[in-house]
Amino acid sequence: MRFDIITLFPGMFDGPLDDSIIGRARENKIIEIFLHDLRRYAGDNHRTVDSPPFGGGAGMLLMPGPLFEAVDQVSSQTEGESRTIAMSASGRPLSEEVVADLIGCPNLILVCGRYEGMDERFLQNKVNDEISVGDFVLSGGELPAMVLIDVLARQLEGVLGSSDSLKEESFGTGLLEYPQYARPANYEGWEVPPVLLSGNHAKIARWREMKSLERTIQRRPDLLTDIAFAKSQLENMYKEFADD
Ligand SMILES: C[S@@+](CC[C@H](N)C(=O)[O-])C[C@H]1O[C@@H](n2cnc3c(N)ncnc32)[C@H](O)[C@@H]1O
Repeated sequence: MRFDIITLFPGMFDGPLDDSIIGRARENKIIEIFLHDLRRYAGDNHRTVDSPPFGGGAGMLLMPGPLFEAVDQVSSQTEGESRTIAMSASGRPLSEEVVADLIGCPNLILVCGRYEGMDERFLQNKVNDEISVGDFVLSGGELPAMVLIDVLARQLEGVLGSSDSLKEESFGTGLLEYPQYARPANYEGWEVPPVLLSGNHAKIARWREMKSLERTIQRRPDLLTDIAFAKSQLENMYKEFADD
């Protein structure tokens, strides 16, 4: 999968996309990342990319000219289907569904906004999708672009050691992940739940289901379609473990 990133700050991507899982995915050529400095596509000697918004208002806005030029030139370098995505606080919220929608596309061009954002004509006529990483405003689209690359890369074959890691993670099952414990079994008097030391794999799986459901009811009831049913399921699971 190829990512082309259009940004005013290509240097921000040094480091976060070089190490660990994403770094290895790049080394193994499962993903490729190309950075493009938006200023290179400016039409004047001053390399101007922003202007005050028409109608007044605070701050500066990225002008359409450099944005159109950058996407046109970058998309001419890719092969196969390509989608252009603007990182935007008012975009489609990033979710597992959005990830599933984007994962099949071999080329994504990610456009990172700055200042007050991007000219609407660019968003309307050149961009396929606007994506938000949450209901808050960041200073630029660079961190959201990194988040999107990370979440997509993890889904690609060969990036994670085991595809089971994805299935059991939060949201993979529609629920939050169950609590997990590392060594030692007793840390400063806090014990690991005994069922996890029992060696009974079926029982451990059932306990994890129960804890996932419990945590989702407590922390993210919005993920559950039928909260009353979820609570009654949880009560039944508590009974199963009551004698332990
Ligand atoms: C300071 S923000 C502009 C905010 C814009 N004036 C608004 O009210 O929505 C500058 C850039 O950061 C990026 N950005 C900020 N928050 C974001 C978010 N939650 N998700 C995705 N991109 C975001 C966008 O690319 C945006 O163009």
